[in-house]
Amino acid sequence: MSLTSAPAISLETPADIAQREALLDLAFGRAARLAKTSERLREGRTPAQGLAFASHGPDGRVAATLRLWHVSAGPGRPALLLGPLAVHPWFRDRGLGAALMNTAICEATRLGHGAILLVGDAPYYARFGFDVGLTEGLWLPGAFDRSRFLGLELTAGALKGARGMVSPTGTPVELPSLGDLVAQGGTGELRRSA
Ligand SMILES: CC(C)(COP(=O)(O)OP(=O)(O)OC[C@H]1O[C@@H](n2cnc3c(N)ncnc32)[C@H](O)[C@@H]1OP(=O)(O)O)[C@@H](O)C(=O)NCCC(=O)NCCS
Repeated sequence: MSLTSAPAISLETPADIAQREALLDLAFGRAARLAKTSERLREGRTPAQGLAFASHGPDGRVAATLRLWHVSAGPGRPALLLGPLAVHPWFRDRGLGAALMNTAICEATRLGHGAILLVGDAPYYARFGFDVGLTEGLWLPGAFDRSRFLGLELTAGALKGARGMVSPTGTPVELPSLGDLVAQGGTGELRRSA
């Protein structure tokens, strides 16, 4: 693949995780990104099935990442939370961010999801149809800038009248058992954190 061609998009695999985390640290700064209110809806959860994407550069390293998460947009209203989206600086301004966004929106629609929420730069996300007007009745579990809290309906009316707190509904990440930790020699860690 030449450096000027757009890298392909695929579903993320466990082999991508370390490079994805390094890319996110580079794009946002580790402390800043983990402090975001959106992170409160993602931490300890697995992304929505079939909606964690990665793109790899010519050297096979992760060049871009985008994941979506199950949330409830107020009581009893399933939706997805999109983010974080990051493209490595070497691969920016070539349409890779847009390709990831379009893939995510198409796949979410194909999988039957009704709506997507995100917190991000409205001038970037407006091109994909995201609108601040769709989240007017919703709140996030922490500080947020309402002008950056955006929604997209994949099915007409999916966010109509949505009111209340957005809450996480994704599958909790499976934690290792105490037996696993002991087998891995993790007893020192447990003692230190107790
Ligand atoms: C935002 C980001 C994902 C865009 O990725 P990308 O692959 O460069 O995006 P694309 O090539 O599809 O689009 C580039 C266009 O988006 C514009 N753009 C990029 N970031 C933008 C932003 N924050 N706000 C408004 N427009 C933006 C570029 O100016 C360019 O505009 P043009 O098409 O008129 O030339 C990438 O810049 C990035 O990872 N930034 C750091 C992390 C971040 O801020 N992520 C989320 C945004 S809230």
